[in-house]
Amino acid sequence: IHNEIFENSVNASKIVAQEIADLIIQKQENGEQCVLGLATGSSPIKVYEELVRLHKSGELSFRNVVTFNLDEYYPMKIENQQSYYHFMHQHLFDHVDIHPENINIPSGDIPVEELDQYCIDYEMKIKQYGGIDFQLLGIGRSGHIGFNEPGSHRNSGTRIITLDHITRRDAASDFNGIENVPKKAVTMGINTIMNAKRIILLAWGHKKASVLQETIEGDITSTIPATFLQDHKNTTIICDAEAASELT
Ligand code: F6R
Repeated sequence: IHNEIFENSVNASKIVAQEIADLIIQKQENGEQCVLGLATGSSPIKVYEELVRLHKSGELSFRNVVTFNLDEYYPMKIENQQSYYHFMHQHLFDHVDIHPENINIPSGDIPVEELDQYCIDYEMKIKQYGGIDFQLLGIGRSGHIGFNEPGSHRNSGTRIITLDHITRRDAASDFNGIENVPKKAVTMGINTIMNAKRIILLAWGHKKASVLQETIEGDITSTIPATFLQDHKNTTIICDAEAASELT
């Protein structure tokens, strides 16, 4: 695992966006599709801003891009302002030239009895595209990546999961109180993420300092699922000075 510390998230986010743009362009030149695994939440917002800026300035097209989002609350309707569907369109998809049929976001609106098959199909679709070329991640204070909460297996695939209390508490302000935060989510698994050819995890602010310290310096354990990334061959953690403050 490689770790890079920046003074703040602004320049760091631009560097991450540039790496993504370079990959998209390189694939374009080879006549290939570029498969991106994408995250929601506060951490990637400035990366998406920069990707939108690069597109609007004419430097970047998303016509060869296929995306798979990490997760969605369950239950959740796409019209809901709190849905990750809404988040992704608001921050990225509505502002770039991606083909709508190339956007994949787990649905939070599948009947319970169809969920298992839905998750198998999501996993299968990623494989059919040849796997994820670049996976963007944030990290939760529970140690989750995607919504792989403590206890998640190294071999896990896309599935429904019960959200950790700390995760629901951190989402409470977005939902006007913890009682309105869904109790479950559909998430890609640890194994789905670990199969990505390249991973960048973003961590900003003092609230992430403790979990980041455990992720980088602690033993590999399902108690802190992000520690599994220590075994990934091509992962970089990009953080700001506050998030890095507990590293030794
Ligand atoms: C979101 C996701 C989560 C978040 C994490 C950090 O799609 O998979 O793992 O990345 O909860 O959230 P923020 O960035 O809001 O601190």
